[in-house]
Amino acid sequence: MTGSRFDRLGGLFKRHGHRVYPRWARDLFSIFVVRLPRGARLLDLGGGTGLLAGWAKKHRPDLELWVADPSDGMLTHVDDGIRTVRARAEALPFEDGYFHAVAIGEALHHFDDVGRALDEVSRVLELYGTVWVYDYDPRPLAGRVVRLLEWLWGEPANFIPPDRLRQMFVERGYMTGIQAEGFRYVLVAELREKASGKSSPSV
Ligand SMILES: C[S@@+](CC[C@H](N)C(=O)[O-])C[C@H]1O[C@@H](n2cnc3c(N)ncnc32)[C@H](O)[C@@H]1O
Repeated sequence: MTGSRFDRLGGLFKRHGHRVYPRWARDLFSIFVVRLPRGARLLDLGGGTGLLAGWAKKHRPDLELWVADPSDGMLTHVDDGIRTVRARAEALPFEDGYFHAVAIGEALHHFDDVGRALDEVSRVLELYGTVWVYDYDPRPLAGRVVRLLEWLWGEPANFIPPDRLRQMFVERGYMTGIQAEGFRYVLVAELREKASGKSSPSV
């Protein structure tokens, strides 16, 4: 896999990455995490330096935590005790139904193919598993500015409005809810119906 433009930003994200999560978003993530079953497996997808996995570990040291990300320069900053794998969301190296939960914080808009990524999330998630997404709505002025900056930087800038993302989850057999709506939003989804499909190789 070739290098990522995030490779040089690991230190920056490790020190300042938390700043893009307002208090309410962190609280919603905490509520999501504390409700997971004992010993559950949680994937921090597009997890970079493992910010979300690190927060989860503080609340729930019993969880099996994974960070998947294509950037070695980001993964190198993940805390000890959290497992890492270099992978893209569109091709996850886990067996079907491995995870109880997947968290995608400020990463979905970086995925090249969000539909394919959601198919993969659905595959590696167990039935009744849950997903937590934090991202930006590209319709308000602030969202349009962020999208333009990301696009100028050369990123896919695949920002998806919450209603559209909700629909994409519903089409894949989820029950969903938007917990916070605005320029920054949180969507939660629970997998109610497993699609039958082909498996990918596991780690
Ligand atoms: C803005 S950072 C967010 C990192 C972390 N989730 C956080 O909140 O600090 C976006 C991350 O998405 C990752 N990324 C880019 N393309 C990806 C893909 N196709 N699949 C998974 N992750 C990807 C990048 O390497 C980067 O670490």
